[in-house]
Amino acid sequence: MAACDRRKRTMADPVAPTVAFWHQVQVPDGDSDTSSQGLNTAEKIEYYSVHAEEYDSEQAEAQFGGPLKAAEALHKYLNGRLDARVLDVAAGTGEVVKLVRRFADYNNIDGLDAAKGMLEVAQQSGLYKELFHMLFTINTGLPHDSYDVVISCGAIGPGHITLDGFQEMLNLLKSGGYVIIVVRRLYTLEYPGYKELSPMLNQWESEGKIKLLEQSIFADFYPGYEGLTIVFKKL
Ligand SMILES: C[S@@+](CC[C@H](N)C(=O)[O-])C[C@H]1O[C@@H](n2cnc3c(N)ncnc32)[C@H](O)[C@@H]1O
Repeated sequence: MAACDRRKRTMADPVAPTVAFWHQVQVPDGDSDTSSQGLNTAEKIEYYSVHAEEYDSEQAEAQFGGPLKAAEALHKYLNGRLDARVLDVAAGTGEVVKLVRRFADYNNIDGLDAAKGMLEVAQQSGLYKELFHMLFTINTGLPHDSYDVVISCGAIGPGHITLDGFQEMLNLLKSGGYVIIVVRRLYTLEYPGYKELSPMLNQWESEGKIKLLEQSIFADFYPGYEGLTIVFKKL
């Protein structure tokens, strides 16, 4: 049995999401993200869950470049600490962790996702220590100050993680830990819920809560669509 198969893997009970929390942003005209246009969060999570088995092949065909960027950033900030505690928020099928393991044998990574079908695929990889099935909100119930890195790729967009989630990412981090977020840049610019992201991070920095380390734009999050890597350190 491979070492990773011996690790404890659990699926926590889903946290019951409240309808009031769900974020009902519609995809604007002209956005070519036609995979699930106009779905609210609950519908989007259901979409991911039902299509989980096809997700990896569809993303490979679409040349989704986000997970590799996220894996590269994770490797850079882990800097060889193989047992650093990492939480992969909106882990999906686990692509980021599959890719980071090409660089080094990181062995203390938990995953979290709201779509059960996606987590079932992630679990088959055997690369996660624990898997949590829950909607990521301000109050996950996970212990604060417990992770060295919280990473999330492709989880900002209509019907995805709201700004409250960033506060929870900060809560879950140990002091000195890193949040790494890789997103399609368009979403941070155009969606009402995310226009406040940059001002919020700047405010946290001015309050001495974080140090912003990166806000790097890169080509081809998807071909023709820029991505953005945001990294900040908890002070
Ligand atoms: C585009 S996929 C990205 C998956 C993976 N991070 C990757 O890069 O391949 C987005 C994932 O975010 C999850 N998701 C969206 N909003 C979420 C939330 N509020 N809490 C937990 N998971 C969420 C979806 O279920 C889906 O698996």
